[in-house]
Order: sequence, then structure tokens, then C-alpha cells
Amino acid sequence: MSKVETECLMTVGQTATGQILLFPKDVKTLKGQVLESLDSRSGPLALHQETFPQFIKYMGSKTKILDFVISGLNEVYEGGGVCDLFAGSASLAGAIGDQVPFVSNDIQRYSAVLAGAYLMQEDLPCTISAACLIEDARPLAEDLLHSIGPYTNYDSITEREAFVRAENDALNLHLKPLPQKHHLFTRFYSGTWWSAEQCAWIDALRSVADRHEGHAHHLILATIMHAMAYCGQGTGHFAQYRDATTDHAFQDIVRYRKRSITDYFARKWHKDALPLTRRRPVQGHQLLSKDYVDCLETLRPCTVYADPPYCFVHYSRFYHALETLVRYDYPEIQHKNGKMVKGRYRAERHQSPFSIGTQVPGAFTKLFQGVQASGSNLVLSYSNTGMITLEKLQSLAQATLGSSYDLQVLTMAHVHMTMGRAKDRAREVTEALLLARKK
Ligand SMILES: C[S@@+](CC[C@H](N)C(=O)[O-])C[C@H]1O[C@@H](n2cnc3c(N)ncnc32)[C@H](O)[C@@H]1O
Repeated sequence: MSKVETECLMTVGQTATGQILLFPKDVKTLKGQVLESLDSRSGPLALHQETFPQFIKYMGSKTKILDFVISGLNEVYEGGGVCDLFAGSASLAGAIGDQVPFVSNDIQRYSAVLAGAYLMQEDLPCTISAACLIEDARPLAEDLLHSIGPYTNYDSITEREAFVRAENDALNLHLKPLPQKHHLFTRFYSGTWWSAEQCAWIDALRSVADRHEGHAHHLILATIMHAMAYCGQGTGHFAQYRDATTDHAFQDIVRYRKRSITDYFARKWHKDALPLTRRRPVQGHQLLSKDYVDCLETLRPCTVYADPPYCFVHYSRFYHALETLVRYDYPEIQHKNGKMVKGRYRAERHQSPFSIGTQVPGAFTKLFQGVQASGSNLVLSYSNTGMITLEKLQSLAQATLGSSYDLQVLTMAHVHMTMGRAKDRAREVTEALLLARKK
């Protein structure tokens, strides 16, 4: 993700009503200058971006263009709370959650955990060390590894064939009942994105998270998610893990198999999790895991930021492992033609209307209606590579909000990460913000 380059080329925004925004056409400006000209409200109501740590790599995360998003928010923000309706990795909570009462919502439960890590500070900072948490987890990790019998030592495997045999044994652990209460990852995910040993530590640290409440609980889970993302042999999401079909793939997968969950956990805990506990607590935050329509129904007038999915893939498939970590509910696993699917997805997964072609226009109309009914202003992110065109989106907004809201569109060129290891790792897109402000 660090390779993303954001080119801040502002273009004239054509409003849905045909008005033109303030910026001269084709003027290339530095980021800071753009913000200055965009942010017409630089008084006490202006929101600004705090630096914050990221816990996971997230497809479609707005982290790299938050200055653009926040400048859009400042165009319609009139004080009071901010609601991030599709919070994902909770980047907006990380950036402005210390300035306003914040409602963080996403249908996926892991998002509320990440938002909690940014938002749920307590009066006293946490002082628990990673070493302490790891020592609390160790007995269970060792017990799990004892129960499964001999497991792979990746230092001793030099041949691809031997590696594939060992991975198949690990994949078959799902057939072996285990007595420990916390054994979900060891049994069902060994040999997938993680080795059996990595899974045993994921389970063991997960059990330790349950012994802590409040901010510490969120932070432990967010830090496990970090270790899962960076030790897993995939590309940062959990749609597919790689097979060792070539020697090159074998060597690369082994590198990840050798990564230590506890090392990644400990480093992140001290570098980023504990410092978050020293932020000033702000009252009035809410963490929700609702469908966006239900969330809008509960909302008091505020400023809504909406960043719905842009494409046909479902987040519930790409991040099912994080959802399962948080819920820890031993879900039924999806089967196809009588076989467990390779990715071991949860059988019950949310299918977003924003990712189903025929449902997208209706989903946006419901979004605009909900914003209007709650008496809120709106900043909506979308791109020219989305499921519907920006023109169509503007006409839907115009149809629902046109009579009672001022509408504007801002655009910006941006390089997007595709989160694959393939050639097409970065793609140039136009990011747009549709702003709707009550007349
Ligand atoms: C583009 S991502 C948001 C990324 C986020 N702004 C960030 O910076 O990480 C879209 C999010 O919408 C969520 N989502 C999809 N359908 C939803 C629905 N019906 N209600 C609420 N959230 C939904 C997905 O789980 C996903 O996290």
C-alpha cells in the first residue's frame, strides 16, 4: 500500500445542477494548495487529518486520499457529529475521530473493532505489555500444538513436494476434533493463509482478547488482525490463498510461513496500539454493525460520509477471516458440489446491493432517501471505475435530493492499488466526491 502515489490534480467539478465549482480548469496544484482553496471553512468548524496507524491492508481504503475526503467534508460540515456509513478499515475514524462525536458503521463486524481501536479511549492509558499478553496466550498455543501432533518445521523443508504434502496434512486438520474451547483457526485454517503454528497463536491470542474489556479488547483484536494480514501468505485479503505450484511460489510462501505471529503482534502493539490509548477520550462515539439503510434510520442530523463498494466483489468474501476472528462463532463453511470451498468462506455472507449490477441504482436511491430523512448533509465517494457511471450517480442524486439540497461534484486523479500480486497492481482512476448540502 505504501507504493500508492496520489496525484492531486483537481479538475472542475460539474454540479448536478450544471453549476461549476470554484477551481480554474486544468490547474495542477500541490496537495496543500488544493486543500487551502477547497477548504472554504477554515474557522473553528474545519476538520483536519490527524496521523493514525493502519492495522490492516484494505481494498478500497481511502487512507491515501483522506485529505481530499476531509476537504469535501469541510464543504458541507456544519458542526455536530460525523457518521461513516461504510467504514471498512475505519480510516476516517482514525483521522478525525478525536475532533467530533463519530458514528462508525459497516455491515462487517471487524470494522467496528478497528473503529473501536481508534475511538474508544478510556481515562487512563493502557500499560499492558505485549510480552504479558503473549505469555498469557502461550499455554493455549502450546496445548493446541500438542493436540494436533507433529507440525511442520519450515526450516527443514527444502523440497516443494515435501512442502505440498505437509500443507495437505495441515488442511486435513479440519477432520480432527480438538478439545480446547478456542481452536477455530487451528482446526479450520491451518494450511490455508497460515501454518498450523500461526493458527494456534491466532487462537491463543484471540482467547486472551476475551479476557479484556473496552479499548484493550478492541486493540488486541485489531493487533491480531495486523499479524494475520502480514504473516498470511495471500495478498492482504482472504479471497484466495496461493498454492505452491512452482518452486518460486513455494519459496515465497515459505517466507510467510516462517513469519512469527507473536513478533508481528508485539511490534504493532508497542508501536501503534498502546500509543492510541494515550489519545484524549472523546464522548459520544458509536460503533454500529448495521446495514446502511438501518443505520440511516437511527441517525440524528449530522454529516454522513458514504464510501460504498465500487465493484462486483463482495467484502464479505475478501475479509471473511477477519469477520470469523471477531465473531469467533465456528461458522458453517460454504460447500459447493458437496466439497468445502477452497477459501473456507462463511456459508452466511453478506451480499452487498452495491456490488450487484441490477441493484446498484436502487441502493443509491435508498442511500439518498435515508440521508434526506435523517436531515443530514452528505459526502459520497465514488469513482469512474464503479458499477454505474458518475453521470448516472449524479442523476440519481438529483432525482431524490435535487429540490432540497445543493449538489456539487469534486474529482481527483488517483492511483489505485488492486491488491493482487499480478501485473496490474496499480490503476489510474478518477475519484469523485458528490457533496449534498441542505438548502
Ligand atoms: C469501499 S469500502 C469502505 C472503505 C473505507 N472508507 C476505508 O477507508 O477503509 C466499502 C465498505 O462497505 C461495506 N458494506 C457493503 N455493503 C454494506 C451495507 N449494505 N451496509 C453497510 N456496509 C456495507 C463493506 O463491508 C466495506 O467495508
